[in-house]
Amino acid sequence: MREDIQTIKNEALAQIMEVTDPSELETLRIAYLGRNGKLNEVMRGIKDLEPEERREMGQTMNEVKGAIEQELIYRKESLKNNTTSTFDATVPGIKPQIGHLHLVTQAIEEITDVFKQIGFTRVRYPEVEWDWYAFGALNMEEGHPARDDWETFFMDTPTHKENGEMVLTPHTSSGQTREMKRLQTPPVRMINIAKCYRRQIDSRHLTMFHQFEGLVVDKGISIVHLKGTLDYFARNFFGPNRKTRIRPYHFQFTEPSFEVDITCGYCLGKGCKLCKEGWVELGGAGMVHPIVLKNGGIDPTKYSGFAFGWGVERTFTMKSELSIPDIRMTYSSDLRFLRQF
Ligand code: DAH
Repeated sequence: MREDIQTIKNEALAQIMEVTDPSELETLRIAYLGRNGKLNEVMRGIKDLEPEERREMGQTMNEVKGAIEQELIYRKESLKNNTTSTFDATVPGIKPQIGHLHLVTQAIEEITDVFKQIGFTRVRYPEVEWDWYAFGALNMEEGHPARDDWETFFMDTPTHKENGEMVLTPHTSSGQTREMKRLQTPPVRMINIAKCYRRQIDSRHLTMFHQFEGLVVDKGISIVHLKGTLDYFARNFFGPNRKTRIRPYHFQFTEPSFEVDITCGYCLGKGCKLCKEGWVELGGAGMVHPIVLKNGGIDPTKYSGFAFGWGVERTFTMKSELSIPDIRMTYSSDLRFLRQF
């Protein structure tokens, strides 16, 4: 409400300054200060506020009314005196409303910065991808039941002889073998952040969402490096009091595979109504499967690696201080929601 009042004030002052005919001043006075004017329109919402806020808002409103009235008088005088230069250095400045980056863009930048600090390079790979990179190269040959988990959109385009069908990238893991091939020799330290698509939508899933995929390949890489990286990320992105744990799981492209949990942002691991036992799931991770290394052109007898992949929106909505009950809100165009970030 305070913002609305300030916007009205800015708008009024700007319009008054531009008036050249004194009769227009009266029109503006009615439009802003009249009984059905813009200020009174906003004022109608005051009755829903707490008494403390109501008092504060009333004060702001009086100040704004005063400023507009003064400017009307000042402008009238200056038109009467026919002064062409009306610059008054004492008039309060007009503060334009400034927008900001979308919360998902902010999250992507924040995630990129956290990983940059420990030597990862941000890359992006195609949103429209070949079946081979999305599945085949990741140890899921055609017809493999594990593919069903990705609820993939297929493109209505001709099939490629080696790479198969064209799909909308269902996960950023498709960038793993692409990055290995691009670099040819380790070390690989990529953070691939891109749009992903799946046939799913509910309060926890979106048809279009973003994932970030970490991949590290070098000599002597072990689970210790993976766990250290996960803890580092949790501390730097979520806050120093958050911890991670890994649980055994299965993915075709990692061996062993894990699911990564983080301590709940509300109870910090004690267990509460929201998380039940103190932990919430972040995403998947594991040690890169030798077949995947081979498909990326890397010798699995010399090198090893770890990988992880999570949703950006999901990770962002799990920040401690946020309470976003429905992930779809991140793509609503409701300014009351977006302005909070
Ligand atoms: N691509 C998986 C998914 O979309 C997530 C994932 C799991 C990524 C394990 C990884 C990994 O890099 O090692 O559900």
